[in-house]
Amino acid sequence: MTPKILSSDALKAPKHNSSDVAWKHKASQLLTAAFGAIPLSLGRKIRRWSYRSFMGQIGKDVFLGTGLDLMGTDRIFLKDNSMVLNGVRLNCRAPNSRIVLGPYATLERDICLVSFGGCIEIGEKTGIGPFVCMGGPGDITIGKNCLIASHSSLYANNHIYSDPSIPIIEQGYICKGIVIEDDCWIGSGVRILDGVTIGHGSIVGAGAVVTKSIPPYSVAVGVPAKVMSKRGQEPQVSVVS
Ligand SMILES: CC(C)(COP(=O)(O)OP(=O)(O)OC[C@H]1O[C@@H](n2cnc3c(N)ncnc32)[C@H](O)[C@@H]1OP(=O)(O)O)[C@@H](O)C(=O)NCCC(=O)NCCS
Repeated sequence: MTPKILSSDALKAPKHNSSDVAWKHKASQLLTAAFGAIPLSLGRKIRRWSYRSFMGQIGKDVFLGTGLDLMGTDRIFLKDNSMVLNGVRLNCRAPNSRIVLGPYATLERDICLVSFGGCIEIGEKTGIGPFVCMGGPGDITIGKNCLIASHSSLYANNHIYSDPSIPIIEQGYICKGIVIEDDCWIGSGVRILDGVTIGHGSIVGAGAVVTKSIPPYSVAVGVPAKVMSKRGQEPQVSVVS
């Protein structure tokens, strides 16, 4: 992955320079205020119908819960039969941001996805557990049929901190991106850091901090995460926490 270096200003929300985007922004504010809290299937039907006017895409039979916090809505794409449960925040305000939720994928309640100018893409039938947080501006790509358990976090960025005389917040970012390949199970409370690829069919144990890529079909645990076995084989190393 080639690292991108960005200034702190690169992530500021743009002024709406086209009337279409400005109109969609207004529509999203008005319609989410009007219909965002209506419960049950009536609320979901009204939201599905009315939010189409300002979202990038709302596919067939998409489930939209209550209290959604949506920003940069024309860059959010929800494919057929995907589900976004109550209280989810999807923030695509920064330039070049994009969030794509694949068919039958689920965002459980109170998830926070902030693309910060990158692309967060979640594959078909993947389920993301409650209170998971993800942030760009590196791209985050999650494959098909994955499970990301509650309270995990994926941050595809690191602040530059080399100059102690300048506040860290003003020194910009370096970002490489995160990839989780198909059929992975990420346990509860896992932290995945920038530049990591989790190989196809891998498992990451609860509470792990993943600082380096994990090869396909591994079971990895610990801080920092180490491969303790390969799926379908006996354990290779004893793990000391
Ligand atoms: C990683 C995991 C799948 C391994 O399960 P398992 O194959 O049954 O492994 P075992 O329980 O036999 O443990 C094997 C060794 O790894 C250690 N280990 C297991 N999980 C660990 C973890 N999350 N962190 C650190 N060490 C762990 C065990 O202590 C044991 O060490 P030992 O051999 O020195 O005694 C499981 O422990 C786990 O973390 N599951 C995630 C559960 C979860 O978050 N669910 C959320 C809902 S989807």
